[in-house]
Amino acid sequence: MSLMARDGAVYVCQSCGAVHGKWGGQCTACTAWNTLVEEAQARPPGALALAKGKARPGLAFEGLASDAPPPPRLTTGLAEFDRVCGGGVVPGSALLIAGDPGVGKSTLLLQVCGLAAERGARVAYVSGEEAVEQIRGRAARMGLAHTQVQLAAETALRDILEGLKREPFDLVVIDSIQTLWSDALEAGPGSVGQVRACAGELVRFAKKRGAAVILVGHVTKDGQIAGPRVVEHMVDAVLSFEGERGYPFRVLRAAKNRFGATDEIGVFEMGDSGLREVPNPSALFLGEGGERAAGAAVFAGVEGSRPVLVEFQALVAPSAYGTPRRAVVGWDSGRLAMVLAVLEARCGLGFGDRDVYLNVAGGLRIVEPAADLAAAAALASSALESPLPQDCVVFGEISLSGDVRAVGRGDARLKEAAKLGFRRALAPASVGDAAGVKVCGAARLAEAVDRIGEASW
Ligand code: TYD
Ligand code: MG
Repeated sequence: MSLMARDGAVYVCQSCGAVHGKWGGQCTACTAWNTLVEEAQARPPGALALAKGKARPGLAFEGLASDAPPPPRLTTGLAEFDRVCGGGVVPGSALLIAGDPGVGKSTLLLQVCGLAAERGARVAYVSGEEAVEQIRGRAARMGLAHTQVQLAAETALRDILEGLKREPFDLVVIDSIQTLWSDALEAGPGSVGQVRACAGELVRFAKKRGAAVILVGHVTKDGQIAGPRVVEHMVDAVLSFEGERGYPFRVLRAAKNRFGATDEIGVFEMGDSGLREVPNPSALFLGEGGERAAGAAVFAGVEGSRPVLVEFQALVAPSAYGTPRRAVVGWDSGRLAMVLAVLEARCGLGFGDRDVYLNVAGGLRIVEPAADLAAAAALASSALESPLPQDCVVFGEISLSGDVRAVGRGDARLKEAAKLGFRRALAPASVGDAAGVKVCGAARLAEAVDRIGEASW
């Protein structure tokens, strides 16, 4: 008898994956409208035996301590990629690489495959999006045509799994999970049911055969992995691949990692022959050289284990329309609203009738709270039309009460700033001078804003 017995229909939200017993116009879990779709309910293997009350052995417990060595890693030789994974991919694990269409996921993974194969790993690259000839052409342009990567263009999960079982692969790339379909379900490819079923099978395959499986997942405009948030829970690591259109820089960021830190980033530059690693990205995002105008502030940030300097650019201008505009690229819009509110309430700067634009240079997306003060400094500098000194970096977290809070790794930030020729820092009051950088400490945001307005450094 089939395990896919249909116990009546279930309705699955195509946005968040929530399962509902009956149809409705709105998903009660994520409030999206018209996203519920009828899908066949799959029964997990063993459910039948459980239901019949067969005697089962029960679980055996084990101690915490173990002499077993840490899991071996498969290093690909693409150092930026390996580092974000936590030192290479772990055999028997599944990894999801998520990103916008066109950001370069296929390029990155073909490179990962080629380099890993060069080091002797047995590698399979299965594409549901491109023909084998297309992939070959790309590999040739990237100088990887000689590598022993096994290519296939296929979307039927059953055929893919059969093919993969024939050879003991160490690394398997599936590009992309949204194109696969399993004949155990009636739903179409890309639906939550299909994506979940296919990802589940592939994760099981990884565990059973000891292969590292990398799944590619496309992301929707609002930053969600299209439909299948569910996949994020099934895999061991989720890496997002990001980049702004028009910029060559790409950032690989760990969003979840059972085998490593999640604040690590890898930086690449997209060129004609694929992605080039940028091992020392600290000066990449500094914006154009020359005079720093009003509205610019250099943030001394830390991404993972490395300090990165990046320019925040703000423009505050009289609003031409009834409702002032707030546009932000590279930073969280909620965080911008918070900083604007604090500047209004605690520092007497008014933005009610002004448009506000905030941009992080170079296409990097900043998530560190320590960037608050840099954003605030850029905004205040534009609003007051008073530039910050050329040689000044900024960092610090801002609280709703208008305090400037201390942040970690102050010394590393100052050291990197010194390396790149900066001599001053606008920073939390607790930070001391270091590496030849003089700290202009501010305990309150209002002090920092006064300093910027009066240009007293
Ligand atoms: P791709 O890896 O196909 O993106 P994704 O798989 O995330 O959809 O890459 C898409 C873009 O990258 C495409 O617009 C062309 C560009 N590109 C280069 O600039 N240089 C290269 O060497 C390659 C292979 C692609
Ligand atoms: Mg692709």
